[in-house]
Amino acid sequence: MDHADLWAAALGVPGVVDVSVLDDVDSTNLEVRRRLEVGAPPAGLVVIAGRQTAGRGRRGRTWEDVEGGNLALSMATPVPAVATLVPLAAALALSATFDGLGLSTSCKWPNDVRLVVAGRPHKCAGVLCDLVADDAGAPTAVVIGIGIDVDWRGRDRAGAAVSWTSLAEVMGRDVDPVEVVVPLLTHLGQRLDQLDRRCPDVLDDYRTVCDTIGQRVRVEGEQVERVGRAVDLTADGHLVLDVDGHEQHVVVAGDVVHLHDG
Ligand code: BTN
Repeated sequence: MDHADLWAAALGVPGVVDVSVLDDVDSTNLEVRRRLEVGAPPAGLVVIAGRQTAGRGRRGRTWEDVEGGNLALSMATPVPAVATLVPLAAALALSATFDGLGLSTSCKWPNDVRLVVAGRPHKCAGVLCDLVADDAGAPTAVVIGIGIDVDWRGRDRAGAAVSWTSLAEVMGRDVDPVEVVVPLLTHLGQRLDQLDRRCPDVLDDYRTVCDTIGQRVRVEGEQVERVGRAVDLTADGHLVLDVDGHEQHVVVAGDVVHLHDG
């Protein structure tokens, strides 16, 4: 990764004020959190790393890394009115970025961004948002962590729980991080701005790209495992599940498995 080019390009994105590009770090989310703890203002604070030694995925999982294959980016933002919409805003920004590279995408609620190849979706990126609070427990910032599989060509992922791909595999060429980071930060800034203005576009647009809605799904990771049809999102971005045609259940967090994917 060419640090100077990437740093300059990211810093040129409107709203981005403080960028660090690191070879490796434990986790970009943790690094942003540490910087906030010592007083960095959240708005426009970005940390990018080519490698994480302790990358974190959702629900306590590890975010896997391979040498030269990943892009990890975290950005802090002040807490918007509806903080639960931030992961959806980030997924939309990722989806628009990949669309701009000529790729076909779909979003699996709440935070997987997938590339659709020959009609089948394969995960290529994920989002992990952490809420930061002050000593009194009041939320002060959201750290938006985005992990993108850029180039996993030649690596075997047999046995993974979900189907994966990477940008280079689908595009059939090397991918420069600048091609991804600049549109991503640009779209993310626009989406966060919409959340600040309480503009309904984030929710409306997410509904159109989210292929979970309309699917029969199994929700894992809640106290009770549920199967039903995903029918809508609440105003907070939570998933509404129709269970057996008579009971509606709102899923706040959890792993969603599409029972008839692609
Ligand atoms: C998922 O489980 O799908 C979400 C993965 C999010 C990974 C990113 S990589 C950048 C940021 N730093 C982390 O430690 N995790 C997130």
